[in-house]
Amino acid sequence: MCGIVGYTGDREAQELLLSSLKRLEYRGYDSAGIAIVSGEITIFKDKGNINNLSKQIPKMKGRTGIAHTRWATHGVPMKNNSHPFSDCTSRFALVHNGIIENYQEIKDELMKKGHIFSSETDSEVIVHLIEDFFKEIGDTEKAVRATVKRLEGSYAILLIEKESNRIFAIRNRSPLVIGLGDGENFIASDVPALLEHTSSVIYLQEGDIAEVTPERVLITDHDGNAMKREAQEIEWSLEDAEKGGYKHFMLKEIFEQPSAIQDSMRGRWVEPADRYNHRSLRSIKIVACGTSYHAGLTGKYILEEILKIPVTVEVASEYRYSPPIRENSTVILITQSGETADTIAAAVEARRRGGRTIAITNVVGSTITREVDEVIYTQAGPEMGVAATKTFTTQLVALYQLALRYGVESGRLDYDDAKEIERELRLIPRKVRAVLDSHEDIEKVAEFLRKAENMFFIGRNINYPTAMEGALKMKEISYIHAEGYPAGELKHGPLALLTSETPVLAIACRNATFEKMLGNIREVGARESPIIVVGFKKDRRILERYADRVIDIPETIPLLSPIPVSVALQLLSYYTADMRGAEIDRPRNLAKSVTVE
Ligand code: F6R
Repeated sequence: MCGIVGYTGDREAQELLLSSLKRLEYRGYDSAGIAIVSGEITIFKDKGNINNLSKQIPKMKGRTGIAHTRWATHGVPMKNNSHPFSDCTSRFALVHNGIIENYQEIKDELMKKGHIFSSETDSEVIVHLIEDFFKEIGDTEKAVRATVKRLEGSYAILLIEKESNRIFAIRNRSPLVIGLGDGENFIASDVPALLEHTSSVIYLQEGDIAEVTPERVLITDHDGNAMKREAQEIEWSLEDAEKGGYKHFMLKEIFEQPSAIQDSMRGRWVEPADRYNHRSLRSIKIVACGTSYHAGLTGKYILEEILKIPVTVEVASEYRYSPPIRENSTVILITQSGETADTIAAAVEARRRGGRTIAITNVVGSTITREVDEVIYTQAGPEMGVAATKTFTTQLVALYQLALRYGVESGRLDYDDAKEIERELRLIPRKVRAVLDSHEDIEKVAEFLRKAENMFFIGRNINYPTAMEGALKMKEISYIHAEGYPAGELKHGPLALLTSETPVLAIACRNATFEKMLGNIREVGARESPIIVVGFKKDRRILERYADRVIDIPETIPLLSPIPVSVALQLLSYYTADMRGAEIDRPRNLAKSVTVE
């Protein structure tokens, strides 16, 4: 997500803020901006990197300021959508990280009152709301408190005010940390931005509002009650800090999934004005590459179960060269980066053939978004590890939501059934957290695999693609040759490869194929292959009879089981690869974004 820094003290703020901001470049961003107070507030911001910004801005005098790197969520990367934002009176400026869910409602209200907005972002409404309350109350602190009471969603906000050296730092479900100096204080979304200046920090907690001046830090809750927060000493190196204390970006990103999934449930849908009538939907085609293709294969099970229409899934590099048959389907293109050459070419081809195209992507304004009719944005935040993790599970969230929406709109899914699935979906972040909490158990299972050279992942039904994705993760980061197979297919060839040296991982979440799956596991056991079974906790006793190792996950409805199972398999691949000394974040021969055909 976005990066935030703030400074108030006795040094000139401009250079300090820009160099602190550069410490956050590793997170990925598309725009940058800075605001400095020197009596009045001056703002400079633009699309592009910090060097680009530094080249444009003149020397700005002032010892209090805020700066921001933006990862677009609302509105494409462009100057007007970059932070900081100011209000109509230029009294305030703020930067924001997170998503304001009720921004449209607030924006409509404020527009009626005459507020003029310069961007398409959710963030800009915050500063106008503060301005509006300030007009009424005449006190900044009270205006801030009134504002946060109106905001729904996640936010880390830094607010500055003209003719003042104080910065308000406001936290709700998005991190903020204050760095304590001598006659100066620093604020940032991430520790790396502070480490050059101080190692003494205060982590703000949910609901905290901090008023930071060069001399003091005053922390209160939304109602103004003082909150006591202890300062802590950071002992991380800069490199450790960039990974948030995790050994690799991949592990950090695996652990970010509860919030990435939660944020993606509030995902954004950009559709044309003439909304499509889903009643006439007869079939769907999904086109993607790699992990996104596996999300597509899972999507087939989701959409067929909910919509009861045929769904076909094709690898993008095959689809684009297939015979140019007229496309009567809705075509869903899945690509986290939005830049995969084959998927973009497939989108162009699908449109040319007459298909209605929808992209599911994690990058606002990426190339694919310009080639399709509709876009669904996942909200996973930037992914640095080459292996896709949080972008995969959030793609699944987008597919569940698409299926529910089309199901209800087309009359193919009963409203009450949709509500029931949605209720279960809302519980998924908590269940993913429970899987993450069991990471030490999964690490022990990885020990069991560290010497393997070949292995199979098997599953049935909706967890057949989960098995394929589990195998892909394992092979790309641990270099163990792994194959994902439908469990029923083992006896049609692969059984010949099974020996006591070939571990098999079976996904056995209780559903209509559970008994069949147990039968397949027995077939494997007869070849003396080491067996790991992933299943629901409540079935652990049964599964233990069939397996050498069991990984249990919290129970959910079978339709949603691919998310917690995938998280467990990501951890298993990660720990196996780490034990084998593999270079996890940059596997050999692979690139994060495959922009060549
Ligand atoms: C595997 C992985 C790749 C990508 C594939 C498509 O972990 O990351 O298989 O899924 O290159 O990338 P996107 O989704 O950007 O189109």
